[in-house]
Amino acid sequence: MKRFLYIFCAGVVALCACSRGPEGSDPRVEKLLRKMTLEEKVGQTVLFTSDWSVTGPSMREGYIDDIRQGRCGNIFNAYTAEYTRKLQEIAVNETRLGIPLLFGYDVIHGFRTIFPINLGMACTWDPEALERSAQVAAHEAAAAGLHWTYSPMCDICVEPRWGRVSEGAGEDPFLGSVVAAALTRGYQGEDLADERTLLACIKHYAAYGAPQAGRDYNTVDMSERWLREFYLPPYKAAVDAGALSVMASFNELDGVPATANKHLMQEILRDEWGFKGFVVTDYTGINEMVCHGFAADEKDAGRLAMNAGIDMDMQSASFFNYMVDLVRSGAVKESTLDEAVRRVLNVKAALGLFDDPFKYCSPEREAAETLTEANKQEARLTAARSCVLLKNEGVLPLRKGARTAVIGALADSKDDLLGSWRGAGEVQSVPASILEAIREVTPAVYAEGCKEMGDDRSGFGSALAAARGAEQIVMVLGEDCQWTGEAACRSDIHIPGVQSELLEKIAALGKPLVVVLLNGRPLDLSAESVTAGALLEAWYPGTMGGYAVADLLFGDVNPSGKLCITFPRNLGQVPIYHYAKNTGRPYVHPEAKYESRYLDVPNEPLYAFGHGLSYTTFSYSDITLSADSFSADGSIEATVTLTNTGQREGEETVQLYIRDLVGSVTRPVKQLKGFRKVNLGPGESTEVSFSIDKETLSFYRADMSFGPESGDFKLFIGGSSDKVKEASFSYEE
Ligand code: NOJ
Repeated sequence: MKRFLYIFCAGVVALCACSRGPEGSDPRVEKLLRKMTLEEKVGQTVLFTSDWSVTGPSMREGYIDDIRQGRCGNIFNAYTAEYTRKLQEIAVNETRLGIPLLFGYDVIHGFRTIFPINLGMACTWDPEALERSAQVAAHEAAAAGLHWTYSPMCDICVEPRWGRVSEGAGEDPFLGSVVAAALTRGYQGEDLADERTLLACIKHYAAYGAPQAGRDYNTVDMSERWLREFYLPPYKAAVDAGALSVMASFNELDGVPATANKHLMQEILRDEWGFKGFVVTDYTGINEMVCHGFAADEKDAGRLAMNAGIDMDMQSASFFNYMVDLVRSGAVKESTLDEAVRRVLNVKAALGLFDDPFKYCSPEREAAETLTEANKQEARLTAARSCVLLKNEGVLPLRKGARTAVIGALADSKDDLLGSWRGAGEVQSVPASILEAIREVTPAVYAEGCKEMGDDRSGFGSALAAARGAEQIVMVLGEDCQWTGEAACRSDIHIPGVQSELLEKIAALGKPLVVVLLNGRPLDLSAESVTAGALLEAWYPGTMGGYAVADLLFGDVNPSGKLCITFPRNLGQVPIYHYAKNTGRPYVHPEAKYESRYLDVPNEPLYAFGHGLSYTTFSYSDITLSADSFSADGSIEATVTLTNTGQREGEETVQLYIRDLVGSVTRPVKQLKGFRKVNLGPGESTEVSFSIDKETLSFYRADMSFGPESGDFKLFIGGSSDKVKEASFSYEE
């Protein structure tokens, strides 16, 4: 809300009513609308790729002519100040109305300076750091002529098979909402018209993270209650944080593709949430409705999309080819098209493009603000904070100066550090692989051992020889980065190839052995969690990832990341997540048969949501409550004393969970409701308090109204969802 007020005060543009007709719309937009031909109006709803970066099937060449004819008002995958200026000049100087282009790009976890993949960034549990990372990305991208990023990705996911779990913030709606809001604030800043900010795009709306069997683009189906309770909160949080564009997801929901889903686009997004920006499809999302079996042909698909509330067609060319006809025939009302154009143009106005269409393309800023030392330092710190120490049996930190063997193809890869979706990030900008960064700290011999994939064991001998001659061993294992991301799903979540076989052989030498993991999903680490002395989950840590990992391995930085997603013991446990219900037959008796359990694996995950170790230790006192009950206009405080009981300074993420014991609908056993990051020196203690009020207890009740219910509650505080202190209180309406 604050941001909207600012926009009003700055007199840049009033967006408040742009989804409900001309009142509140920028006068320049209304003037243009009166002048525009039908073809020119449709042009503003068209988004084509320049094909500089390939993010989907290519449909059209000749987009430059389309721009020149006023038939394409928006371009994605084109960047650099020079190239965007060239295209913008065509739009502004050679079209009848001179309406500036909007330039979009997938600035996902950095633009040139690449930060850790988003799953890793969420493991920082640090909204300020996330906001700063988005700010750095915005500064770099906006200087290269970009206005619009396709981020934040707000898809909650409990499915490690899905390749795109790497792009989101993990499994929890509360944490996901904090992350979505922080990224939105970072991109958009205080004023969208500032040439160092980017328009955020909330994606993929909605529930794209729940494809059946974890296969990309697959069917999504769930109850309205589960949708609202578990999947929608992060999208809503980004709307509340002021994001002014939304991307419709590829999937269907309740039998209706999101691209033509009025319930999502109109009833929830606009009517309930009051979203004021525009909605774009995902890549060829309109045409795909023919394959979905929802539209007879691409023209019909365009009609369905526009009538459902889609304002811009990414790459389908359905609006481009058919919208004029659809309006002329009355299948789409001209007022509906006007509304879409109005929304798009008002966002262009909010970006300041009608004041100066070239303000974003700045070769000077591009040179001065890209890959700066400050940006790289920020990326290095964030990368270190995103890593999660899963296990440490006294192996870490490693000794500087000790003879070290470094093993694994990924150890010597700069490319994989960037992840699969590095956008404009380039491998030449990565200063050091993990191996090179280690070598700056200690003498190290390197042996590849084996590749990430395949069954070639011919390098095992030299890896074993290197390990034998060493005092300590670092193995870097995981997935080739192209094995995660879009269209990169797996039916098996083990570390691929023969990497784990090599690990077993090296571990048999009995030397201090740490495994650093590079991967973009929860993996089945049940074997590795036994063989390795220490396990450091480093995700794909970005441009400065090599140094960040070395910082952690040798103790220059103390690990502080906490898992934002559960690691299962095996794929059979999936979906497994902390937000689970108790069931009618919870497993409480070790020998019981007719309880909710597996015969061949425990119910508990390998590493729980919220888990993450440090080189120091923390103890939690019992919980003190300011009162043991409260009512609608009141609140209570829950307090613990946190003590750093180890030998060095460290950071802990204190987590608050709630359980509503009896509800008009069943409630999860543990629902994350708050967290705080606390830094403490050795021996230091501090009190950490959380306030609980009726908002904290609210949920979608049996009648789907949102609010609390009277009754008894449990409250848990701890450093991981599976290691908590417990207290009880009651609430009276
Ligand atoms: C398809 C992806 O699903 C989406 O995330 C991305 O923003 C678009 N392609 C554009 O590249």
